[in-house]
Amino acid sequence: MKPTTKTVDFLVIGGGVAGLRAAIELASEGSIIVLTKDKATESTTGYAQGGIAVALSDEDEVCVHYDDTIKAGDGLCNEEAVQVMVEKGPDYLLELMSWGAQFDKNGTSLSYTREAAHSRRRILHSKGDSTGKEIERVLIKKARSFSSISRYDFAFTLDLIIEQGICKGATVLRHDKIIKIFARAVILATGGAGQLFSRTTNPMISTGDGIAIAYRAGARIMDMEFIQFHPTTLYSPGAPHFLLSEAMRGEGAVLKNVKGYRFMPDYYEMAELAPRDAVTRAIVSEMVKTRSRHVYLDLTHLDTNFTKKRFPQIYATCLQYDIDITEDMVPVCPAVHYVMGGVKTDLGGESSVKGLFAAGEVACTGVHGANRLASNSLLEGLVYGALTGKSAVEYAATAEVSVTSGETCQEETTGPSSLSGVDLEKIRSSLRQVMWEKVGIIRCEKSLMAAKKWLSKYEKILDGRFKDRREYELINMLTVATLVTDASILRKNSAGAHFRSDFKKKKGNWKMHTVCQIGNKPQWSD
Ligand code: SIN
Repeated sequence: MKPTTKTVDFLVIGGGVAGLRAAIELASEGSIIVLTKDKATESTTGYAQGGIAVALSDEDEVCVHYDDTIKAGDGLCNEEAVQVMVEKGPDYLLELMSWGAQFDKNGTSLSYTREAAHSRRRILHSKGDSTGKEIERVLIKKARSFSSISRYDFAFTLDLIIEQGICKGATVLRHDKIIKIFARAVILATGGAGQLFSRTTNPMISTGDGIAIAYRAGARIMDMEFIQFHPTTLYSPGAPHFLLSEAMRGEGAVLKNVKGYRFMPDYYEMAELAPRDAVTRAIVSEMVKTRSRHVYLDLTHLDTNFTKKRFPQIYATCLQYDIDITEDMVPVCPAVHYVMGGVKTDLGGESSVKGLFAAGEVACTGVHGANRLASNSLLEGLVYGALTGKSAVEYAATAEVSVTSGETCQEETTGPSSLSGVDLEKIRSSLRQVMWEKVGIIRCEKSLMAAKKWLSKYEKILDGRFKDRREYELINMLTVATLVTDASILRKNSAGAHFRSDFKKKKGNWKMHTVCQIGNKPQWSD
């Protein structure tokens, strides 16, 4: 297949909050292409329910939001990155509202809810539990108002174009055609990797593509052992692991085991509002104790009209599975929700590869440390999307755009796929199972080494030749699963969401970060 070429000033890969906000920042600085691998509205942003955390209310302070974020991050946050996010958050939020974002109100004042580990009510929400959709709607509309921004939907990025160590663009598969897009700067905003695990709140698109392509391009990938498990997702045979927002606990819902006993006060003073990693492990412990596959989330004591109005999407979705959340306790279990690690960047989103930037869930500024504070992800995407756009502009002022053939990391040559005859779906399903069982909520050397052994069977195919999105996704998933496993093996201590039953304490070098880079063994870094 002979590739066609395109040249643009900025290439943004991903169309969620971080990618769109970056593109808007770039709009007056040159031509921009925003790629989404599926339809324009299919991003993890659109699935975000609970809200966006921001210290805007009169009863809140930026320094309190800072403290809560640092505390949840369990000693591993980059303090400067947190300061930037909480300080700049209010202005970026007000700007978003000036572009038309509507958040729920009590009368004329904004309505703030509370979520786990927040010491104040500071979560803005929209249409009850559809906050991500509202933010996405406004950003898509705003981006469309700039003629400099073009969108390529259903465009799957195969690899980055690297010339002499500098990122010059990306090779993309769209409608069975390969396009080489050359750009002065490339911003990755591809979201997370929840699909690596059999239980996840993430949509099908979350296959870790951005982390995998950045890794193949030589970028440093940081803290991949920190995978966040959301404590409460719907447990119903045949149903997806639909998210039951933490905001429900913020509004008074409680957790009960299958015997009907409210257990969280026995574990933590903050009970249901303890940090996510803590609530998740308490749930697992109760599931083990009661030999059950779930616990219950109970909202039946809340006013029925309030529940229906406050959580309309969740109410309607649970009814599809014959669960009326106003009358029935909801069976819930934890599932993978968010990747705290990712492509290591500075506070301007610049990665270790020149010309390559990253923002949002794919990036790791260190803002979330070992455990992200609830509803900080939309804020991170908004703030760091904009800041990354700004620093890409600065970089691009001196960067030359290339139109050579480029040395892509994977050659997109003709010929049979290395995966022809391989049962892709079987490997994908086994991978998700292995990751959940061996690299899940509670890990140990034995389980991690078993995962490593399973993954090593597929090492050889990673260098092969592939033909379509499904194949590339599998390769990316295998790559990122290996990074998560390697980092988890390296971190022989427990912090935040990374819990090792064989190294339960914080000790030794626990304050350091893990870094993986192609060609090198996983290492510790400051
Ligand atoms: C939720 O609504 O519980 C999810 C919010 C988040 O992940 O920050």
